[in-house]
Amino acid sequence: MPIREIATQPFDDQKPGTSGLRKRVTVFQQPHYLENFVQAVFDTQPQLQGGTLVLGGDGRYYNRQAIQVILRMATANGVAHCLVGQGGILSTPAASCLIRKYQTQGGLILSASHNPGGPDGDFGIKFNTPNGGPAPEKVTEAIYQRTLEIDRYRILDADDIDLDHIGEVSVGTMRVEIVDPVADYAELMRQQFDFDAIAGLLRGDFRMAFDAMHAVTGPYAKRILEEQLGAPAGTVVNGVPLEDFGGGHPDPNLTYAAELVARTQGPQGLDFAAASDGDGDRNMILGRDIFVTPSDSLAILTANHRVFPAWRDGIPGVARSMPTSQAVDRVAKALEIDLYETPTGWKFFGNLLDAGKIAFCGEESFGTGSAHVREKDGLWAVLAWLNLLAVEQRPVREIVRDHWRRFGRNYYTRHDYEGVDKTKAEALMERLRRILPTLQGECYDGPRILRADDFRYVDPVDGSVSEHQGLRFLFEDGSRIVYRLSGTGTVGATLRIYIERPETRPERLEDDTQAALAPLITASHTIADLAYHIGREEPDVIT
Ligand code: G1P
Ligand code: ZN
Repeated sequence: MPIREIATQPFDDQKPGTSGLRKRVTVFQQPHYLENFVQAVFDTQPQLQGGTLVLGGDGRYYNRQAIQVILRMATANGVAHCLVGQGGILSTPAASCLIRKYQTQGGLILSASHNPGGPDGDFGIKFNTPNGGPAPEKVTEAIYQRTLEIDRYRILDADDIDLDHIGEVSVGTMRVEIVDPVADYAELMRQQFDFDAIAGLLRGDFRMAFDAMHAVTGPYAKRILEEQLGAPAGTVVNGVPLEDFGGGHPDPNLTYAAELVARTQGPQGLDFAAASDGDGDRNMILGRDIFVTPSDSLAILTANHRVFPAWRDGIPGVARSMPTSQAVDRVAKALEIDLYETPTGWKFFGNLLDAGKIAFCGEESFGTGSAHVREKDGLWAVLAWLNLLAVEQRPVREIVRDHWRRFGRNYYTRHDYEGVDKTKAEALMERLRRILPTLQGECYDGPRILRADDFRYVDPVDGSVSEHQGLRFLFEDGSRIVYRLSGTGTVGATLRIYIERPETRPERLEDDTQAALAPLITASHTIADLAYHIGREEPDVIT
């Protein structure tokens, strides 16, 4: 079968965002679009020649077609061996697990995470490096630069292969192994957590649900929770991955997982419920009558790390993305471990994890994980909570409240303004950036602004510098307002405003977050002059 060199022309829009190249399916369906990007990966990652590539995705529309194209291109570019999840399925953390376990030269993960799927939805692709993590900026930048000059790609002329049966086939000279997408990942989970304790909990009168949102975690959750840990059949809902995620938003948050939230409310509510997103890296944790914010979840898991067999002897440190609440900072301080503050995006945790500086890390955007892989991991967080609950034997709400009493609470919310005109959103940020220094010392019916800056990160491991990672306003009482523009959207701009206030007085640990933050929310509108710049003061999504 001949390898063909196809002439092509560059697209100018293939710059990977916060997590890979993410576009409408229709964009990816343009002739040569996917091929150009994939060729740019092969051209800039010579270690793949003669090496092994992991390949799989979240099962969304176009997953299978893309896999067939990538396999033909991989062999044409000299890849020797490819591990593909059965049916083209691999959750993002499971792909990371395979890359690491089999010491491969990298992986291509096909996903647009929590964005809707189907022919009119989104598709995405990202390259993960041999450490199992998303490519760092210097790699994604090299790939992007290559897409700007690409003039040909290599592809084998061959038929599609059967992706549905476990076993080995060849594509040209490349050996393709279709693997069980769950087995290695499930084994890794067993090494992290006390499966006997969790099984004991699930065999009792504990009632829980896991919502896979018709996305990739269905098969993982069914195997681990129902088959291995003995949760009753039906614990996993929406457990069959669908190409369009059943028409829904596979995004576990209070808006898109509202039905699940309802099942946890009231005296008959479930003891525990959780959900994951399209590609299985995000998590939402709920107890009866309580939503555990991702920021609190990171803080609580860190405070309790000794209940996890993998971390029984202690942890070196933790990291959070800059906009994530400072709840974990208090825990790190109390435990006398290191705390790192990184820009948004999981890739920034990679070096810290590789260097053994941190055990856990997390983002406010429903991302939590540990050093077991180099991606955030939805099911890992769920199992961590189950492990904690099995040891503690008390309701989620009590655990969280006790945590607040011990460490204090950080009221925290994120307000998203979606579909904002890009030019207007950029103008807003530009103005804020310009006036930052003049706002120092200002006061908006509350504490003074102690410091205002444009977050800049110097990687403590390799010294690389990332500029303009969000505008921070730090108040003298520890409150914060942060502004940044989303790097994952596919239409217009999304402005994210993150608002936080610490409360350490136990008698003031009132419940309603939005009320507790009301003065700061108002200040956040004034500081950025939202009404003037985008003509709105009501966010589309409040988390
Ligand atoms: C969003 C989240 C960010 C996360 C990313 C990928 O990015 O805010 O924390 O790493 O999705 O899941 P954003 O759209 O804000 O750039
Ligand atoms: Zn995701």
